[in-house]
Amino acid sequence: MLTQRGNRFWTYEESLRFLGVELGRIMSVMKLSSGGLFVQSPAELTPELKTALEELGEVRFVAPASKLHGHLYMEQYRAAYPDATLLAAPGLPARRPDLRFDHVLGDTPDPRWGTDIDQVVVAGHRWLTELAFFHRPSRTLILGDVGFHVGDDSPLKTRLVARALRIRNRLGPPIELRLTIQNEATFRRSIRDVLAWEFDRVVPGHGEIIDSGGQQALLEGYDWLLE
Ligand SMILES: [Fe+2]
Repeated sequence: MLTQRGNRFWTYEESLRFLGVELGRIMSVMKLSSGGLFVQSPAELTPELKTALEELGEVRFVAPASKLHGHLYMEQYRAAYPDATLLAAPGLPARRPDLRFDHVLGDTPDPRWGTDIDQVVVAGHRWLTELAFFHRPSRTLILGDVGFHVGDDSPLKTRLVARALRIRNRLGPPIELRLTIQNEATFRRSIRDVLAWEFDRVVPGHGEIIDSGGQQALLEGYDWLLE
């Protein structure tokens, strides 16, 4: 169920098929030093997952990566945890008028989680504004669609599609996201802000977790932008 990856850090991998290809998606769970849980990109809240979460603590914050990634099951968390705070990414409140959000995440972490988790807005893309998170105690970077990572453990069909999308064994965005960057300087500055964090592990939005050497993987995955 939930896999402990580092200090106060767990992941849960869920199946996700997109255009007939198994992409998978990953939920991250962080236990804040103040006690509660910060959940990023929540998975479907099955009874098993609910029990596993309850063993760790009380769900206090639920955050997406963007308006496209990580908000699918938020209504289940709202219903199960009426006192939890739902956080939005830019553009998400308009997409999910059924949900009441506490606020829209920006570059400044809130004091309620800021001692444990830092955040950066990855900006400069035409339609995707994403939140990257850094969990300090476990030195983990958490991405969404700007960080696909399809490695050798993925199914053959997924690997073939990933090659076409230029994300095979590469931590980065699929080619169509690359080609629709609106302001390259802004996007580059965002990725440099992410690289300033001292992370070792990377949890991609889709694909395989990189348990160490994540800095180097991100540098290599973004060589087309950074050089
Ligand atoms: Fe995604």
